[in-house]
This record gives sequence, C-alpha cells and structure tokens, in this order.
Amino acid sequence: MKSNVVIDPWGSILLQDYAQLMGEFGMQHFDRGMLERFPNPNMLMRRFVVFGHRSLSFIADAIGKEKDFTILTGIMPSGDRLHFGTKSVIDMVRYFQEQGGETHVLVADLEALATRGVELDVAKQRFKEFYLPAYLALGLDPKKTDFYFQSENETVKNMAYEFSSRITMNEFRAVYGNMDASRIMSSLLQAADILHVQLKTPGPTVVPVGIDQDPHLRLARDIADRFGKYKFLPPAATYHKFTPSLDGGFKMSKSKPGSYIAIPDDPETAGKKMLHALTGGRNTVEEQKKLGGEPDKCMIFEMYKQHLLTNDRDLNEVHETCRNGTLTCGEDKARACGLMKKFLEGFNRKFEKAKKTSGKMVE
Ligand code: TRP
Repeated sequence: MKSNVVIDPWGSILLQDYAQLMGEFGMQHFDRGMLERFPNPNMLMRRFVVFGHRSLSFIADAIGKEKDFTILTGIMPSGDRLHFGTKSVIDMVRYFQEQGGETHVLVADLEALATRGVELDVAKQRFKEFYLPAYLALGLDPKKTDFYFQSENETVKNMAYEFSSRITMNEFRAVYGNMDASRIMSSLLQAADILHVQLKTPGPTVVPVGIDQDPHLRLARDIADRFGKYKFLPPAATYHKFTPSLDGGFKMSKSKPGSYIAIPDDPETAGKKMLHALTGGRNTVEEQKKLGGEPDKCMIFEMYKQHLLTNDRDLNEVHETCRNGTLTCGEDKARACGLMKKFLEGFNRKFEKAKKTSGKMVE
C-alpha cells in the first residue's frame, strides 16, 4: 500500500523501515546475486550495509567487461565536520575507483548558496581547507579524482537550464513534495551533475549516496529518458544504511553531542562516548551470561560492522561470543573505545598529510 511518503533531501529524515522504502520507490535490493558480480567487494557490500541500488547491473557489466564507467558524487560544503555516513559514501566511491571507474566529486556550492545561504567564497575556502584533505584522508586517490565546483562548471549549468524545459511543476511535487525556487534550481543542477559526465565518457554512471538523495536520482533517471538526443543511460546508484547515533537514534544527530561522533573529533572524548553507547546487553551480568547479548540491537556492533572492524572473522567472533554470553559489554566497550580512538587518530594523521597535497590542487 502506498503511504504518501516523500523523501525530502533537504530535511532530516528518520528512516526505520528500509524494506517499505524499497517497495514504494522501486529500488532494488542489493542481494547476494548482485554482490557476487563484483570483484573484491568492500566490507559495506559484504555485510549488506549497502542494502539497495538502482541499475547496478550496468556497473557490474562494465567492470566485468572492462568497459568505461563513471562515478560521481557531491557534497554540500555546509560545515567543517563529516558524518560517519559520508565516510560510507567515500568508501563506496573508493571501491568503484579501485575497479577502474573515472571519478568525479563535485562541490555543491550553488546548492549550498541557494538552500543554506553559504556564500561561494566561503564554500571554496571550506573545500580547500577541510573537505578536500578529508576526502583524501579517507582514501580517494587525488590523481584519479576530478573535483569541480558547480558554480564553475558551464556545461552543468547549461544542461540544468535545458532540463528545465521538459519538467512540470506537478512532476516536481510528485518527486519532492513541496518545492520552492531554490530547490527547483538545485534539483535540476544535480540532475545535470549526474548526467553530464556521460557526455565525455559514454557508458554507465554510478552515484553512491545516502538514501535521502534518492529523489534526485529518480529525477535524473526520468530526465535521462526524455533527452533522447544525448543517449544517456539511466544513472545507477548505491544506497547504504545510516550510521545511527550511539543512543540508537536513526540519524547521527549533531544536536545530541553525547551520542554523536563526527570526523574529526577529539579521539579521547569520542572514545569515552563509545563507553556510553546503547548496547544489546541484558540488565545484569548474570542474565547476560545466561541469555547472551543481542548484537543486532547494539550500537557498538553497528559501528564495528559499518566502520571499525574491517576483518570479517573478527566481526563474526564478536557476534558469536556476544550471543553466547561469553563476551560482556564492559570488555567490549573498552575495545570499541580503543578502536574509535585509533580510527580518529589515524584520520588526523592522514588529514595533516593530505593537506600538503591538497594545497597544490586548488588555486
Ligand atoms: N544534494 C547533495 C547534498 O545534499 C549534493 C549533490 C549535488 C550531489 N549534486 C550531486 C550528490 C550529485 C550526488 C550527486 O549533499
């Protein structure tokens, strides 16, 4: 049954029921069959943290046949910290980059100007000083990644104008709910971001994003259909689960400082936050030993799965020993605290190093 849900890419959405979402919006499950078509899948894929996709078989085909494909994602330069969810996006971009895709990462400075009032020069400064080195620290290869600003890309801006000729207000409303002029401009621009890479490099494009960006993908796919002269392939996408906040809320929320860890964050403080995370533990140690814990309800386990424990065997062992009651929350939290500290310290180190490269990349 349709529930009139619209996803608002500019609002904050709380998503609990991924299955319902897939049914309503016609996404496909990222299942074992799809997983097996990819060489050396990364941990987000192996663990099905990537849960949905659109048209991903185009990309599997291109990789299998060593044909050209492009990867594109974008960021709004609206702060000076990243969510762990953004790390998931970059992990996916990096995976496809390693499989030979031509990579484009755009700075959505026009969208940030129109929807959040961020001035263009401020956006540029933030990109140079923070986002670019942060993305390199998370593993994007500077030699293989094309970064661009929306405001400086004439092709993208012209295409956005052209796209406006074949879309009605009713279609906008059907995809996004209520729209205003700034959102209309931004969504056309985003469709142009997504599709313009096929002009130079014909072939499929994959857009790794958070699920909140799916309306933009639907619009871009509709538009691809309508402009036959360009022979666009409908863009593919991967969707990964949110990284929940440590208290079990579905979106890492900056308004809850005690349960929110950003990248970067002070490693010491962040480690301590792990000690207060919601776990799947029982009320008493005795009960825990008798009944075992519930790792699938545990935020620490979720952080292990999505970000902190890269080895599958280690992850399975935690799952197993938690469930059979031999692992207690106390000892596990101490480990999680250490892993978080290590991750953030590693990030800081790589960030400082990346700054030296990135300084030369943007004038
Ligand atoms: N709308 C995205 C955000 O909110 C940024 C963005 C602009 C983007 N163009 C894109 C993302 C193209 C993916 C693909 O951050």
